[in-house]
Amino acid sequence: MTDSKQPIKPRVLISKERLEARVSELAAEIQRDYVDAEGLICVGILKGSVFFMMDLLKQIDLPLAIDFFQTSSYGADTVPGEVRIRKDLDLSIRDRDVLLIEDIVDTGFTLRTIMSLLRFRGARSVKLCALLDKVDKRQAEVEIDYRGFEIENVFVVGYGLDRDEIYRNLPFIGVCD
Ligand code: IMP
Ligand code: MG
Repeated sequence: MTDSKQPIKPRVLISKERLEARVSELAAEIQRDYVDAEGLICVGILKGSVFFMMDLLKQIDLPLAIDFFQTSSYGADTVPGEVRIRKDLDLSIRDRDVLLIEDIVDTGFTLRTIMSLLRFRGARSVKLCALLDKVDKRQAEVEIDYRGFEIENVFVVGYGLDRDEIYRNLPFIGVCD
């Protein structure tokens, strides 16, 4: 039975198994790089990063704090390149090592804004871990220290990513086509 009110079922682009395997590799790399760090703060960008961030951090055996930013949403009626902070951090990041965790880098405007804000506030170091990299869409240069997957210029959903707030809880990365 088909129901026109049901959202379409996305096609799998990156399976749950591939996500799990790559997240474990990224966690191992981060663990190794931060083994001597003191006072690491992992900062997620709400809401898209939360599924990835939780899976990743559960596999990192280091003392760390977590915090969140929320920025203006994709496709909002903002000037291109203008990013609004809707929720700021609770913690001070002065003299702390900060690892930003993001679902996807698209134009790069969000990360460029957030990374310069963190540096301005006196973070000791700022690195970026992004699950997905839509490299062809980049307009602002952003260095990704830990990258999950490079993907084509398609709109993806699942594993935290939404389309009109739906699909975030899919266990895989999918495409609605
Ligand atoms: P930016 O263009 O790099 O600033 O990305 C801004 C935000 O847009 C990302 O953090 C995502 O939340 C969202 N976004 C970009 N591409 C996609 C996509 O393909 N699916 C869902 N959200 C996306
Ligand atoms: Mg996001």
